[in-house]
Amino acid sequence: MTRDFSVPQTRKLVTALPGPRSVELQERRVASVSRGAGTLANIYMESGSGAILVDVDGNRLIDLGCGIGVTTIGHAHPAVAAAAAEQASKLTHTLFTVTPYENYVRVAEKLAEITPGDFDKHSILVNSGAEAVENAVKIARKFTGRRAIATLDHAFHGRTNLTMAMTYRPWPERAGMGPFPGEIYSVPISYPFRDPEGMTGEEAAERTIDYINTHIGATELAALFVEPIQGDGGIIIPAPGYFKRLSEFCTENGIVFVADEIQAGIGRTGTWYSIEHHGVVPDLVTSAKGIAGGFPLAAVTGRAEIMDAVQPGGIGGTFGGNPVSTAAALAVFDVFEQENLLEEAKRVEKALWARIGDWAEKFPVVGEVRGKGAMFGIELVKPGTKTPNPDALKAVLAHATANGVIPLDAGSWDSVLRLLPSVIISDELIDDAATVLEEALARVS
Ligand SMILES: Cc1ncc(COP(=O)(O)O)c(C=O)c1O
Repeated sequence: MTRDFSVPQTRKLVTALPGPRSVELQERRVASVSRGAGTLANIYMESGSGAILVDVDGNRLIDLGCGIGVTTIGHAHPAVAAAAAEQASKLTHTLFTVTPYENYVRVAEKLAEITPGDFDKHSILVNSGAEAVENAVKIARKFTGRRAIATLDHAFHGRTNLTMAMTYRPWPERAGMGPFPGEIYSVPISYPFRDPEGMTGEEAAERTIDYINTHIGATELAALFVEPIQGDGGIIIPAPGYFKRLSEFCTENGIVFVADEIQAGIGRTGTWYSIEHHGVVPDLVTSAKGIAGGFPLAAVTGRAEIMDAVQPGGIGGTFGGNPVSTAAALAVFDVFEQENLLEEAKRVEKALWARIGDWAEKFPVVGEVRGKGAMFGIELVKPGTKTPNPDALKAVLAHATANGVIPLDAGSWDSVLRLLPSVIISDELIDDAATVLEEALARVS
Protein backbone atom coordinates (compact mmCIF):
# COMPACT_ATOMS: atom_id res chain seq x y z
CA MET A 1 0.00 0.00 0.00
CA THR A 2 1.10 3.60 -0.46
CA ARG A 3 1.40 5.72 2.63
CA ASP A 4 1.53 9.48 3.09
CA PHE A 5 4.45 10.61 5.19
CA SER A 6 4.98 14.14 6.44
CA VAL A 7 8.74 13.63 6.07
CA PRO A 8 10.50 12.08 3.04
CA GLN A 9 11.54 8.49 3.81
CA THR A 10 15.22 9.06 3.06
CA ARG A 11 18.31 9.74 5.16
CA LYS A 12 19.70 13.25 4.72
CA LEU A 13 22.42 14.95 6.73
CA VAL A 14 22.79 18.73 6.60
CA THR A 15 25.22 19.09 9.53
CA ALA A 16 27.74 16.90 11.30
CA LEU A 17 26.06 14.81 14.02
CA PRO A 18 25.32 15.89 16.65
CA GLY A 19 24.56 19.25 15.02
CA PRO A 20 25.06 22.67 16.63
CA ARG A 21 21.57 22.94 18.11
CA SER A 22 21.89 19.43 19.60
CA VAL A 23 25.24 20.39 21.12
CA GLU A 24 23.62 23.47 22.68
CA LEU A 25 20.75 21.40 24.12
CA GLN A 26 23.22 18.84 25.43
CA GLU A 27 24.97 21.56 27.44
CA ARG A 28 21.65 22.56 29.01
CA ARG A 29 20.78 18.94 29.63
CA VAL A 30 24.03 18.22 31.46
CA ALA A 31 23.23 21.17 33.72
CA SER A 32 19.68 20.06 34.48
CA VAL A 33 19.08 16.33 33.93
CA SER A 34 20.41 13.45 36.04
CA ARG A 35 23.25 11.63 34.34
CA GLY A 36 21.49 8.44 35.45
CA ALA A 37 19.25 8.89 32.40
CA GLY A 38 22.10 7.94 30.07
CA THR A 39 21.61 8.35 26.32
CA LEU A 40 22.78 6.31 23.33
CA ALA A 41 23.29 9.34 21.06
CA ASN A 42 23.02 12.99 22.06
CA ILE A 43 21.09 13.96 18.96
CA TYR A 44 17.93 15.86 19.91
CA MET A 45 14.82 15.04 17.91
CA GLU A 46 12.08 17.38 16.84
CA SER A 47 9.72 15.29 14.73
CA GLY A 48 9.31 11.96 13.05
CA SER A 49 7.31 10.23 10.37
CA GLY A 50 7.33 6.57 9.41
CA ALA A 51 10.86 5.25 9.90
CA ILE A 52 12.54 8.66 9.82
CA LEU A 53 13.43 10.92 12.75
CA VAL A 54 14.17 14.62 12.15
CA ASP A 55 16.57 16.28 14.56
CA VAL A 56 16.63 19.88 15.76
CA ASP A 57 19.22 20.77 13.09
CA GLY A 58 17.10 19.45 10.23
CA ASN A 59 18.93 16.13 9.71
CA ARG A 60 16.87 13.11 8.69
CA LEU A 61 17.93 9.90 10.42
CA ILE A 62 16.90 6.28 9.90
CA ASP A 63 15.35 4.93 13.08
CA LEU A 64 16.30 1.29 13.64
CA GLY A 65 15.29 1.33 17.29
CA CYS A 66 11.80 2.87 17.60
CA GLY A 67 12.72 4.20 21.06
CA ILE A 68 13.30 0.56 22.07
CA GLY A 69 10.48 -1.06 20.18
CA VAL A 70 7.68 1.43 20.75
CA THR A 71 6.80 3.16 17.47
CA THR A 72 6.26 -0.15 15.69
CA ILE A 73 3.69 1.34 13.29
CA GLY A 74 5.95 4.32 12.50
CA HIS A 75 6.43 7.75 14.06
CA ALA A 76 3.45 10.05 14.49
CA HIS A 77 1.02 7.83 12.64
CA PRO A 78 -1.84 10.15 11.57
CA ALA A 79 -4.52 7.76 12.86
CA VAL A 80 -2.96 7.63 16.32
CA ALA A 81 -2.40 11.39 16.39
CA ALA A 82 -6.04 12.02 15.43
CA ALA A 83 -7.45 9.53 17.95
CA ALA A 84 -5.35 10.96 20.78
CA ALA A 85 -6.18 14.57 19.88
CA GLU A 86 -9.89 13.87 19.71
CA GLN A 87 -9.86 12.05 23.06
CA ALA A 88 -7.74 14.79 24.66
CA SER A 89 -10.37 17.35 23.76
CA LYS A 90 -13.17 15.20 25.25
CA LEU A 91 -11.93 13.56 28.45
CA THR A 92 -8.40 13.05 29.76
CA HIS A 93 -8.98 11.45 33.14
CA THR A 94 -11.52 10.04 35.54
CA LEU A 95 -9.50 7.14 37.02
CA PHE A 96 -11.06 3.95 35.77
CA THR A 97 -11.46 2.61 39.32
CA VAL A 98 -13.46 5.70 40.37
CA THR A 99 -15.73 6.13 37.33
CA PRO A 100 -14.96 3.94 34.31
CA TYR A 101 -15.07 4.67 30.57
CA GLU A 102 -15.46 2.59 27.42
CA ASN A 103 -11.94 2.87 25.93
CA TYR A 104 -10.48 0.85 28.80
CA VAL A 105 -13.03 -1.92 28.29
CA ARG A 106 -12.46 -1.92 24.52
CA VAL A 107 -8.70 -2.33 24.95
CA ALA A 108 -9.29 -5.23 27.37
CA GLU A 109 -11.67 -6.83 24.86
CA LYS A 110 -9.10 -6.46 22.09
CA LEU A 111 -6.32 -7.92 24.25
CA ALA A 112 -8.53 -10.92 25.04
CA GLU A 113 -8.97 -11.39 21.28
CA ILE A 114 -5.32 -11.10 20.20
CA THR A 115 -3.47 -12.81 23.05
CA PRO A 116 -2.92 -16.56 22.59
CA GLY A 117 -5.40 -19.04 24.08
CA ASP A 118 -9.02 -19.89 23.57
CA PHE A 119 -10.40 -19.28 27.06
CA ASP A 120 -11.90 -16.45 29.11
CA LYS A 121 -9.34 -13.71 29.60
CA HIS A 122 -9.30 -10.58 31.73
CA SER A 123 -6.88 -7.64 31.70
CA ILE A 124 -5.58 -4.85 33.91
CA LEU A 125 -4.16 -1.69 32.31
CA VAL A 126 -1.21 0.17 33.80
CA ASN A 127 1.39 2.75 32.71
CA SER A 128 4.68 1.00 32.02
CA GLY A 129 6.21 -2.34 31.28
CA ALA A 130 7.77 -2.65 34.72
CA GLU A 131 4.41 -1.90 36.33
CA ALA A 132 2.80 -4.64 34.24
CA VAL A 133 5.47 -7.14 35.33
CA GLU A 134 5.06 -6.11 38.99
CA ASN A 135 1.32 -6.64 38.72
CA ALA A 136 1.80 -10.03 37.08
CA VAL A 137 3.97 -11.03 40.06
CA LYS A 138 1.29 -9.88 42.51
CA ILE A 139 -1.44 -11.70 40.61
CA ALA A 140 0.52 -14.95 40.31
CA ARG A 141 1.42 -14.91 44.01
CA LYS A 142 -2.15 -14.21 45.04
CA PHE A 143 -3.49 -16.97 42.77
CA THR A 144 -1.01 -19.66 43.81
CA GLY A 145 -0.42 -18.66 47.43
CA ARG A 146 3.29 -19.16 46.70
CA ARG A 147 6.13 -16.64 46.81
CA ALA A 148 9.01 -17.70 44.57
CA ILE A 149 9.43 -16.16 41.13
CA ALA A 150 11.77 -17.52 38.45
CA THR A 151 13.19 -15.52 35.56
CA LEU A 152 15.56 -16.60 32.79
CA ASP A 153 19.25 -15.72 32.60
CA HIS A 154 19.82 -12.56 30.51
CA ALA A 155 16.25 -11.37 31.20
CA PHE A 156 15.20 -7.75 31.35
CA HIS A 157 11.95 -7.03 33.17
CA GLY A 158 12.30 -3.39 34.24
CA ARG A 159 13.82 -0.82 36.55
CA THR A 160 11.53 -0.69 39.58
CA ASN A 161 12.85 -2.33 42.73
CA LEU A 162 11.03 -5.62 42.16
CA THR A 163 11.70 -5.78 38.42
CA MET A 164 15.37 -4.86 38.92
CA ALA A 165 15.59 -7.99 41.04
CA MET A 166 14.10 -9.86 38.08
CA THR A 167 16.63 -8.36 35.67
CA TYR A 168 19.75 -10.38 35.01
CA ARG A 169 22.75 -8.18 34.64
CA PRO A 170 24.10 -6.04 37.45
CA TRP A 171 25.47 -3.23 35.29
CA PRO A 172 24.14 -0.65 34.68
CA GLU A 173 20.64 -1.47 35.86
CA ARG A 174 21.16 -2.81 39.37
CA ALA A 175 24.59 -1.72 40.58
CA GLY A 176 24.44 -0.05 43.97
CA MET A 177 20.64 0.00 44.09
CA GLY A 178 19.87 -2.79 46.54
CA PRO A 179 18.55 -4.25 48.74
CA PHE A 180 16.25 -6.14 46.41
CA PRO A 181 13.22 -8.27 47.29
CA GLY A 182 13.91 -11.94 48.01
CA GLU A 183 12.48 -15.10 46.45
CA ILE A 184 13.51 -14.10 42.91
CA TYR A 185 15.61 -16.72 41.11
CA SER A 186 17.37 -16.53 37.77
CA VAL A 187 17.40 -19.90 36.00
CA PRO A 188 19.33 -21.05 32.90
CA ILE A 189 17.89 -20.17 29.49
CA SER A 190 18.27 -21.85 26.10
CA TYR A 191 20.81 -19.68 24.24
CA PRO A 192 21.61 -21.62 21.07
CA PHE A 193 24.68 -19.53 20.13
CA ARG A 194 26.32 -20.14 23.51
CA ASP A 195 24.90 -23.51 24.56
CA PRO A 196 26.88 -26.73 23.96
CA GLU A 197 26.86 -27.55 20.24
CA GLY A 198 23.74 -29.53 19.27
CA MET A 199 21.83 -28.98 22.53
CA THR A 200 18.12 -29.25 21.75
CA GLY A 201 15.36 -27.09 23.17
CA GLU A 202 14.08 -30.06 25.17
CA GLU A 203 17.53 -30.68 26.68
CA ALA A 204 17.88 -27.00 27.55
CA ALA A 205 14.41 -27.14 29.16
CA GLU A 206 15.47 -30.13 31.29
CA ARG A 207 18.50 -28.10 32.43
CA THR A 208 16.17 -25.25 33.44
CA ILE A 209 13.76 -27.64 35.19
CA ASP A 210 16.59 -29.35 37.05
CA TYR A 211 17.77 -25.95 38.25
CA ILE A 212 14.27 -25.06 39.44
CA ASN A 213 13.90 -28.40 41.24
CA THR A 214 17.28 -28.18 42.96
CA HIS A 215 17.40 -24.45 43.77
CA ILE A 216 13.77 -23.43 44.33
CA GLY A 217 11.43 -26.45 44.41
CA ALA A 218 8.58 -26.65 41.91
CA THR A 219 5.92 -26.54 44.63
CA GLU A 220 7.35 -23.26 45.97
CA LEU A 221 7.28 -21.51 42.61
CA ALA A 222 4.43 -19.06 41.91
CA ALA A 223 5.45 -18.08 38.38
CA LEU A 224 8.03 -18.48 35.66
CA PHE A 225 8.58 -15.29 33.67
CA VAL A 226 9.99 -15.64 30.16
CA GLU A 227 10.61 -13.30 27.24
CA PRO A 228 9.80 -15.57 24.29
CA ILE A 229 12.37 -13.56 22.33
CA GLN A 230 14.66 -11.76 24.74
CA GLY A 231 15.10 -8.10 23.89
CA ASP A 232 17.68 -6.38 26.09
CA GLY A 233 19.32 -9.76 26.69
CA GLY A 234 20.45 -9.68 23.04
CA ILE A 235 17.60 -10.99 20.86
CA ILE A 236 18.04 -14.47 22.25
CA ILE A 237 15.61 -16.91 20.63
CA PRO A 238 15.49 -20.15 22.61
CA ALA A 239 15.69 -23.39 20.63
CA PRO A 240 12.47 -25.01 19.31
CA GLY A 241 10.75 -27.13 21.97
CA TYR A 242 12.24 -25.20 24.90
CA PHE A 243 9.17 -23.20 25.91
CA LYS A 244 6.80 -26.07 25.12
CA ARG A 245 8.52 -28.30 27.67
CA LEU A 246 8.72 -25.49 30.23
CA SER A 247 5.06 -24.67 29.84
CA GLU A 248 4.14 -28.36 30.34
CA PHE A 249 6.30 -28.40 33.47
CA CYS A 250 4.49 -25.28 34.75
CA THR A 251 1.07 -26.81 34.11
CA GLU A 252 2.06 -30.09 35.81
CA ASN A 253 3.24 -28.19 38.89
CA GLY A 254 0.65 -25.41 39.25
CA ILE A 255 3.16 -22.70 38.25
CA VAL A 256 1.85 -19.64 36.38
CA PHE A 257 3.65 -19.36 33.02
CA VAL A 258 4.06 -15.66 32.18
CA ALA A 259 5.16 -14.45 28.75
CA ASP A 260 6.69 -11.00 29.07
CA GLU A 261 5.89 -9.67 25.60
CA ILE A 262 6.66 -6.06 26.41
CA GLN A 263 9.33 -5.82 23.71
CA ALA A 264 8.50 -8.62 21.26
CA GLY A 265 4.70 -8.44 21.39
CA ILE A 266 2.07 -6.35 19.58
CA GLY A 267 2.94 -7.52 16.11
CA ARG A 268 6.65 -6.77 16.05
CA THR A 269 7.65 -10.29 15.04
CA GLY A 270 4.90 -10.99 12.50
CA THR A 271 2.44 -12.49 14.99
CA TRP A 272 0.56 -10.54 17.65
CA TYR A 273 2.70 -12.22 20.33
CA SER A 274 6.13 -13.79 19.89
CA ILE A 275 5.27 -16.83 22.04
CA GLU A 276 3.12 -17.93 19.08
CA HIS A 277 6.34 -18.81 17.21
CA HIS A 278 6.99 -21.37 19.94
CA GLY A 279 3.47 -22.89 19.79
CA VAL A 280 2.82 -22.21 23.46
CA VAL A 281 -0.18 -20.66 25.24
CA PRO A 282 0.91 -18.74 28.36
CA ASP A 283 -1.28 -18.22 31.43
CA LEU A 284 -0.49 -14.50 31.61
CA VAL A 285 0.92 -12.09 29.03
CA THR A 286 2.37 -8.62 29.60
CA SER A 287 2.11 -6.01 26.84
CA ALA A 288 3.49 -2.46 26.66
CA LYS A 289 5.86 -0.54 24.33
CA GLY A 290 4.23 -0.82 20.88
CA ILE A 291 0.67 -0.99 22.19
CA ALA A 292 -0.19 2.73 21.97
CA GLY A 293 2.18 4.27 19.42
CA GLY A 294 4.27 5.99 22.08
CA PHE A 295 1.61 6.86 24.66
CA PRO A 296 2.22 5.28 28.06
CA LEU A 297 0.15 2.12 28.37
CA ALA A 298 0.82 -1.43 29.49
CA ALA A 299 -1.29 -4.44 30.33
CA VAL A 300 -1.45 -7.80 32.02
CA THR A 301 -3.83 -10.17 30.26
CA GLY A 302 -4.55 -13.77 31.12
CA ARG A 303 -6.77 -16.55 32.29
CA ALA A 304 -9.80 -14.97 33.96
CA GLU A 305 -9.54 -17.20 37.04
CA ILE A 306 -5.94 -16.11 37.64
CA MET A 307 -6.57 -12.41 36.93
CA ASP A 308 -9.63 -12.46 39.21
CA ALA A 309 -7.79 -14.03 42.15
CA VAL A 310 -7.01 -10.50 43.32
CA GLN A 311 -9.47 -8.71 45.61
CA PRO A 312 -11.05 -5.47 44.27
CA GLY A 313 -8.64 -2.64 45.00
CA GLY A 314 -5.66 -5.03 45.08
CA ILE A 315 -4.37 -3.83 41.71
CA GLY A 316 -4.74 -0.50 39.91
CA GLY A 317 -3.26 2.99 40.02
CA THR A 318 -4.13 6.61 39.22
CA PHE A 319 -3.15 6.83 35.55
CA GLY A 320 -3.44 3.20 34.42
CA GLY A 321 -5.41 2.81 31.20
CA ASN A 322 -5.68 6.58 30.74
CA PRO A 323 -8.41 7.65 28.25
CA VAL A 324 -5.91 9.19 25.78
CA SER A 325 -3.48 6.24 25.90
CA THR A 326 -6.30 3.77 25.39
CA ALA A 327 -7.68 5.82 22.46
CA ALA A 328 -4.19 5.67 20.92
CA ALA A 329 -4.04 1.90 21.51
CA LEU A 330 -7.38 1.35 19.79
CA ALA A 331 -6.02 3.32 16.81
CA VAL A 332 -2.86 1.16 16.79
CA PHE A 333 -4.95 -2.02 16.69
CA ASP A 334 -7.01 -0.60 13.79
CA VAL A 335 -3.90 0.45 11.87
CA PHE A 336 -2.41 -3.03 12.28
CA GLU A 337 -5.49 -4.54 10.70
CA GLN A 338 -6.15 -1.90 8.03
CA GLU A 339 -2.52 -1.75 6.89
CA ASN A 340 -1.90 -5.47 7.22
CA LEU A 341 1.07 -4.83 9.48
CA LEU A 342 1.63 -8.41 10.64
CA GLU A 343 2.47 -9.13 7.00
CA GLU A 344 4.64 -6.02 6.88
CA ALA A 345 6.66 -7.36 9.82
CA LYS A 346 7.25 -10.53 7.78
CA ARG A 347 8.34 -8.43 4.80
CA VAL A 348 10.85 -6.60 7.01
CA GLU A 349 12.17 -9.95 8.25
CA LYS A 350 12.64 -11.13 4.68
CA ALA A 351 14.36 -7.91 3.65
CA LEU A 352 16.67 -8.05 6.67
CA TRP A 353 17.66 -11.68 6.08
CA ALA A 354 18.33 -10.89 2.42
CA ARG A 355 20.45 -7.86 3.28
CA ILE A 356 22.28 -8.81 6.50
CA GLY A 357 21.85 -12.59 6.75
CA ASP A 358 25.40 -13.28 5.51
CA TRP A 359 27.19 -10.90 7.87
CA ALA A 360 28.61 -13.75 10.00
CA GLU A 361 30.39 -15.04 6.87
CA LYS A 362 31.41 -11.57 5.71
CA PHE A 363 32.68 -9.98 8.91
CA PRO A 364 34.94 -11.82 11.39
CA VAL A 365 33.48 -9.77 14.29
CA VAL A 366 29.97 -11.06 13.64
CA GLY A 367 29.32 -14.27 15.56
CA GLU A 368 25.67 -14.66 14.64
CA VAL A 369 22.77 -12.85 13.01
CA ARG A 370 19.38 -13.85 14.42
CA GLY A 371 15.89 -12.45 14.42
CA LYS A 372 12.21 -12.62 13.71
CA GLY A 373 10.02 -9.99 12.07
CA ALA A 374 11.35 -6.53 12.82
CA MET A 375 13.47 -7.72 15.75
CA PHE A 376 17.08 -8.66 14.97
CA GLY A 377 20.32 -9.10 16.86
CA ILE A 378 23.85 -9.21 15.52
CA GLU A 379 26.14 -10.71 18.16
CA LEU A 380 29.66 -9.28 17.95
CA VAL A 381 32.65 -11.39 19.01
CA LYS A 382 36.43 -11.28 18.96
CA PRO A 383 37.32 -12.72 15.56
CA GLY A 384 37.63 -16.51 15.51
CA THR A 385 36.09 -16.89 19.00
CA LYS A 386 32.77 -16.53 20.80
CA THR A 387 34.24 -14.02 23.21
CA PRO A 388 31.90 -11.01 23.41
CA ASN A 389 33.23 -7.86 21.74
CA PRO A 390 31.72 -4.78 23.42
CA ASP A 391 34.41 -2.50 21.95
CA ALA A 392 33.30 -3.45 18.44
CA LEU A 393 29.70 -2.66 19.34
CA LYS A 394 30.71 0.73 20.72
CA ALA A 395 32.55 1.52 17.48
CA VAL A 396 29.64 0.37 15.30
CA LEU A 397 27.15 2.47 17.27
CA ALA A 398 29.43 5.52 17.10
CA HIS A 399 29.80 5.18 13.32
CA ALA A 400 26.09 4.56 12.78
CA THR A 401 24.85 7.47 14.88
CA ALA A 402 27.42 9.85 13.35
CA ASN A 403 26.06 8.87 9.95
CA GLY A 404 22.36 9.22 10.62
CA VAL A 405 21.39 5.66 11.55
CA ILE A 406 20.03 4.88 15.04
CA PRO A 407 20.33 1.21 16.03
CA LEU A 408 20.36 -0.09 19.63
CA ASP A 409 22.71 -2.02 21.87
CA ALA A 410 21.84 -5.15 23.84
CA GLY A 411 23.24 -8.22 25.55
CA SER A 412 24.61 -9.08 28.97
CA TRP A 413 28.11 -8.29 27.65
CA ASP A 414 27.01 -5.19 25.66
CA SER A 415 27.98 -6.93 22.47
CA VAL A 416 24.76 -7.34 20.50
CA LEU A 417 23.73 -4.83 17.86
CA ARG A 418 19.95 -4.70 18.17
CA LEU A 419 17.61 -3.66 15.37
CA LEU A 420 13.97 -2.87 16.20
CA PRO A 421 12.80 -0.87 13.17
CA SER A 422 9.24 0.05 12.41
CA VAL A 423 7.37 -2.64 10.50
CA ILE A 424 6.68 -0.04 7.81
CA ILE A 425 10.35 0.73 7.12
CA SER A 426 10.95 0.46 3.38
CA ASP A 427 13.34 -2.04 1.80
CA GLU A 428 15.29 0.98 0.48
CA LEU A 429 15.83 2.37 3.98
CA ILE A 430 16.87 -1.08 5.23
CA ASP A 431 19.41 -1.20 2.40
CA ASP A 432 20.76 2.28 3.13
CA ALA A 433 21.02 1.66 6.88
CA ALA A 434 22.67 -1.72 6.30
CA THR A 435 25.30 -0.06 4.10
CA VAL A 436 26.21 2.31 6.95
CA LEU A 437 26.40 -0.58 9.44
CA GLU A 438 28.54 -2.58 6.98
CA GLU A 439 31.06 0.29 6.75
CA ALA A 440 31.40 0.11 10.53
CA LEU A 441 31.63 -3.69 10.65
CA ALA A 442 34.31 -3.64 7.94
CA ARG A 443 36.33 -1.14 10.01
CA VAL A 444 36.13 -3.10 13.26
CA SER A 445 36.79 -6.40 11.49
C1 LIG B 1 10.78 -7.53 28.13
C2 LIG B 1 10.66 -6.25 28.90
N1 LIG B 1 10.00 -6.26 30.07
C3 LIG B 1 9.86 -5.13 30.79
C4 LIG B 1 10.37 -3.92 30.35
C5 LIG B 1 10.17 -2.68 31.18
O1 LIG B 1 9.32 -1.80 30.52
P1 LIG B 1 9.27 -0.25 30.90
O2 LIG B 1 10.56 0.35 30.48
O3 LIG B 1 8.09 0.29 30.13
O4 LIG B 1 9.05 -0.18 32.36
C6 LIG B 1 11.06 -3.88 29.15
C7 LIG B 1 11.65 -2.62 28.67
O5 LIG B 1 12.57 -2.58 27.88
C8 LIG B 1 11.21 -5.07 28.40
O6 LIG B 1 11.86 -5.08 27.23
